[in-house]
Amino acid sequence: MTDSRLAALQAAAPDLRLKTEPGDLEHYGRDWTRRWTPDPLAIALPGSVAEVQAVMRWASAHAIKVVPSGGRTGLSGGAVAAHGELVLSLERMNKPLAFDRVDRTLTVQAGMPLEAVHNAARENGLEYPVDFAARGSCSIGGNIATNAGGIRVIRYGNTREWIAGLKVVTADGEVLDLNRALVKNSSGYDLRQLMIGSEGTLGVIVEATLRLTDPPPPTNVMLLALTSFEGLMEVFAAFRERLQLEAFEFFTDIALKHVLAHGAVKPFEEVHPYYVVTEFAIGDEAKEAAAMAAFEACMEAGWVADGVISQSDAQAQQLWRLREGITESLAPHVPYKNDVSVRISRMPAFLKETQALLGQAYPQFEVVWFGHIGDGNLHINVLKPAEMAQDQFVRECEQVTKLLAQALKAHEGSISAEHGIGLVKKPYLDSTRSPAEIALMRGVRRAMDPQALLNPGKLFDA
Ligand code: FAD
Ligand code: MLT
Ligand code: ZN
Repeated sequence: MTDSRLAALQAAAPDLRLKTEPGDLEHYGRDWTRRWTPDPLAIALPGSVAEVQAVMRWASAHAIKVVPSGGRTGLSGGAVAAHGELVLSLERMNKPLAFDRVDRTLTVQAGMPLEAVHNAARENGLEYPVDFAARGSCSIGGNIATNAGGIRVIRYGNTREWIAGLKVVTADGEVLDLNRALVKNSSGYDLRQLMIGSEGTLGVIVEATLRLTDPPPPTNVMLLALTSFEGLMEVFAAFRERLQLEAFEFFTDIALKHVLAHGAVKPFEEVHPYYVVTEFAIGDEAKEAAAMAAFEACMEAGWVADGVISQSDAQAQQLWRLREGITESLAPHVPYKNDVSVRISRMPAFLKETQALLGQAYPQFEVVWFGHIGDGNLHINVLKPAEMAQDQFVRECEQVTKLLAQALKAHEGSISAEHGIGLVKKPYLDSTRSPAEIALMRGVRRAMDPQALLNPGKLFDA
């Protein structure tokens, strides 16, 4: 430990694990975006709330910038450390702490992987319903810091809905115990809610008390092949009218091509331009008849050309893989990601406009459309041609994102539906938030972190 600042930190917290090997700096200094060259000062891996406090007190005393870090599956550069920051990884704080049957809550450390949270809830006969493909690697702290969405938002909402209480270490090392799992609490500003979606800029989430719900009903998974983009929202309406939807997700033939190349099983002989994976409650004859009625109505209207319904859990998983495998299958192409949303009612008009806009803007690139269409959330991924330099590719994509941001502003949508602003979407924050809102956010950040230590350069420049 040659750096005297790190020696001071180690002296303040003798059991704190610190890593400074080049391989560790690289590993912990980046997230899934792979766009920035990692260059952190060191990695701190606390094992307790007290150690997190010691890190933040030391950071305040030495004016060291700190990047809170979970599973680093983020897609907006939020956990990137490229300017000598200390990475504060919650990885070792990954245990369940308490289950309360009466309150129906599970209290966990912030570094617990989402999948481990699912398992802990299920061991107690209940469900933590936020879910998405990064479940094995992302942390609940990162989910809270980004207000993660995922594939079940249509039924259960975003992470925000499920946070009953939070323990947070502030920039100067104080502990805040926010809301303490109260169901009713009208005692002023809800700082717990302010922390959710704050992307590591307002405090370090160290523990969370999660609300749990009943186990989901028995379900079926259906894959639909669609004939046109125009029919997409009509199919959604036809299914939502008749069924209790647990998920309604969309992808295109180009997305399918990539997941199939990654080992997924081909669903239909013929190739169709658009696909939907939907999951819905079954369990009695009326529900099963409703599912068939929805399917037949869509076939008759000419919106759907083919369909398959899962006959087993294995087949349901196979169908889900077609949707959930997309991100991983695109990763080798270092995609430029857009994660946009509009109100569901605006989606047909927005889809039409965006399709025309991107068709013109990106004639030379492969563009992959997929997403949580039932929530009004589209993921539009642009793939880098192998021969093109990363910088040039990003510059070109950013020009198009400016146009997309204008369209979103006109449709009153959001430039980040669920991944967060981080570094990637920082230049476009004003397409979604008014100058007055951004000024207030700056004020909140200054009040909570006067030295601008926490996650510098993310969300907006402090
Ligand atoms: P990180 O990437 O480590 O960090 C994300 C942000 O949170 C950073 O700003 C970081 O500073 C901050 N942070 C992390 N931990 C803390 C903490 N304890 N206290 C304060 N701040 C903290 N996201 C969705 O919303 N929906 C999806 O469907 C979805 N699918 C995905 C599928 C794949 C295959 C992948 C790779 C990613 C997907 N994501 C999705 C994005 C990502 O998984 C989520 O944003 C997730 O919530 C990030 O969690 P993490 O622990 O990896 O956070
Ligand atoms: C998804 O829904 O699969 C994601 O949020 C990840 C992505 O956009 O790649
Ligand atoms: Zn998503």
